[in-house]
Amino acid sequence: MSQSWLIYGAYGYSAQLIAQEAKRRGLTPILAGRDESKLKTVANRLNFDYRVFSLDDPKVVAKQLADVALVIHCAGPFSHTSKPMIEACVLSVTHYFDITGEIDVFEYAHSDVVNGRAKAAGIVVCPGVGFDVIPTDCVARVLSETMPDATHLTLGFSGGSALSPGTAKSSVEGLASGNKVRINGEIVSSGVNTRVIDFGKGSRNAMNIAWGDVSTAFYSTGIPNIEVYIPASNNTIRMVKLALLLKPALRLDVIQTFLKKQIEKKVAGPGEEIRRKYRSLVWGEVRNRSGEVKTAYLETPNGYDVTVLGPLAIVEHFLKGKIDCVGSLTPSLLMGSHFVSTLPDTSDIRIQ
Ligand SMILES: NC(=O)c1ccc[n+]([C@@H]2O[C@H](COP(=O)([O-])OP(=O)(O)OC[C@H]3O[C@@H](n4cnc5c(N)ncnc54)[C@H](OP(=O)(O)O)[C@@H]3O)[C@@H](O)[C@H]2O)c1
Repeated sequence: MSQSWLIYGAYGYSAQLIAQEAKRRGLTPILAGRDESKLKTVANRLNFDYRVFSLDDPKVVAKQLADVALVIHCAGPFSHTSKPMIEACVLSVTHYFDITGEIDVFEYAHSDVVNGRAKAAGIVVCPGVGFDVIPTDCVARVLSETMPDATHLTLGFSGGSALSPGTAKSSVEGLASGNKVRINGEIVSSGVNTRVIDFGKGSRNAMNIAWGDVSTAFYSTGIPNIEVYIPASNNTIRMVKLALLLKPALRLDVIQTFLKKQIEKKVAGPGEEIRRKYRSLVWGEVRNRSGEVKTAYLETPNGYDVTVLGPLAIVEHFLKGKIDCVGSLTPSLLMGSHFVSTLPDTSDIRIQ
């Protein structure tokens, strides 16, 4: 089988960080994207081969992937890009990985249809191999192994640092589709729920958000009730409540396009110094019908660094011939519940 692998969206913020670290490790990805001049600049700088193609027609994409064994898909928001890439990967028999955090994208990738087609093709479809969702997914799995009869899972993380352009654009789309939680196995809309959480360094006010685990933690653990929290000031909570009231306006194409153009002009993504300064604390809690509670704590590098380390750990796993399963999988189902702690500069998951 071919050992070649490709990064799509290669001149974006996260993809460039992944490509740079791949170079440092002596790995040789093919870089790909739809804009030749932007792609060529990055490929020449890193001395990697490149391929120019858009995602408009999955059959054309599949031809470009004919000799590629694995894709790290970094072109987001994935609401527009994951379906054609998954379709192409099924046609070309190429393992699919992405760095999405979008609930609808996870739900599609884990649907019976995609799972069945991935199994028939003999490929892995594994969305969410960045900070969203590797650390929280592993915390969820470890907690569910600690309490197999858990009925409620609450996850959270604190980090800080600026957003990357793609994250900001995905957040603008996320606000328009509203807040989400999982109740009795179903993903449903929610208001802004608040609670006080000690993420590992003292208690903080927190609010729930539509983070990827609302989808994925259910596939990793089977726990039917799931929420995800981040720290938030009273001001932020008020702003998010207001944004949720404005959801119908935020859904308008003209508003989405305007906000995304502003992001393209103003958002560059955190530099190395900021990333080094802001590490991430990850927290999780499970509860069962008897009211027993178990809590988990984890510390990782900055989220954007985890989004480099996670995909490359999976690529190296693949290059060693260790990917031996097929179908739609979460990171912890593919790589094990303690996968996150094998990443550099990351703690073990501590249960209390
Ligand atoms: N899992 C995580 O924790 C994590 C961390 C970081 C980022 N992300 C996600 O990853 C995505 C990328 O974020 P980023 O900040 O790295 O991105 P970015 O700097 O905005 O770059 C996005 C890349 O995707 C390409 N792209 C976008 N739409 C496309 C389309 N329809 N067809 C082909 N290419 C397309 C862009 O190319 P053009 O310039 O040609 O449009 C560009 O190369 C976002 O969805 C973000 O939320 C997730």
